Amino acid sequence: MFVFSLAVLSLGSLVVSRSVASDIRRSFVPPGPGDSRSPCPLLNALANENIMPHTGQNIPIALLNQTMREVLNLGADLTDALVGGAQQFADDNGTINLHDLATHNVLEHDASLVHDDAAPGAVYAPTDTNKAKVAAVSGLSTDGVGLTARDLAHARVIAEETSLPLPDNLAFAANVEAALALTVIGDGTTVDLAAFGDLFGENKLPEGWVKPTEPITLDVVVGIASQVAAAKEEFESI
Ligand code: HEM
Repeated sequence: MFVFSLAVLSLGSLVVSRSVASDIRRSFVPPGPGDSRSPCPLLNALANENIMPHTGQNIPIALLNQTMREVLNLGADLTDALVGGAQQFADDNGTINLHDLATHNVLEHDASLVHDDAAPGAVYAPTDTNKAKVAAVSGLSTDGVGLTARDLAHARVIAEETSLPLPDNLAFAANVEAALALTVIGDGTTVDLAAFGDLFGENKLPEGWVKPTEPITLDVVVGIASQVAAAKEEFESI
């Protein structure tokens, strides 16, 4: 009953948030000193754009779920898979702080595209963006316009070569992250470099971004993650 009520409340606030979101988006506010942020550029962007609470604190799992569905137009299966990962950090009130997601080697992992690895023995990984890494990944664009699955696979191989080996489940998750970028802010095959810079570099939704018309399903994302995995094998065999 509690969860149901929360979901209804969240839906209500999201209807308002969605109509207000474009106004708030134009007044993008980077995180302040007390704000909680994660290693996920998209979740941080939603907080920075005031679509989710700007503090990044006490975010109801139900709101996270609703935001994935209504703001990003993720399918129910993909939403369940992603929010299920966050659920394990929920407190007794069913809320999370974004920084919880930085807990090392649970969802967060080394060899991120734009974050530094966790310090040896650290409980939490860094959440600050390494701008040099953003530039380095952009530089891997084959056509100088966008990043394809193959370009992102190249970036992942470079990142993984310079980090400790990832556990299998997190190595797959890293491929999924590339696929999410290709679908949520790209057209399924390419992410425009400007959009990449906005999301990964600044943690803001790309200029002119609108949600996809059709829901993005788990099948589609896993299929693109498999393309990334196959391209990685090609680079690794060179
Ligand atoms: C409930 C939903 C989500 C949760 C709980 C979540 C959680 C996370 C976490 C914990 C990481 C850190 C992994 C690492 O160490 O690199 C991450 C990274 C990432 N997430 Fe999310 N995420 C969610 C939704 C999304 C969505 C919808 C997108 C779509 C663009 C996305 C894009 C990414 C990308 C591209 C990275 C990799 C960043 C990097 O390599 O530095 N995430 N996410």
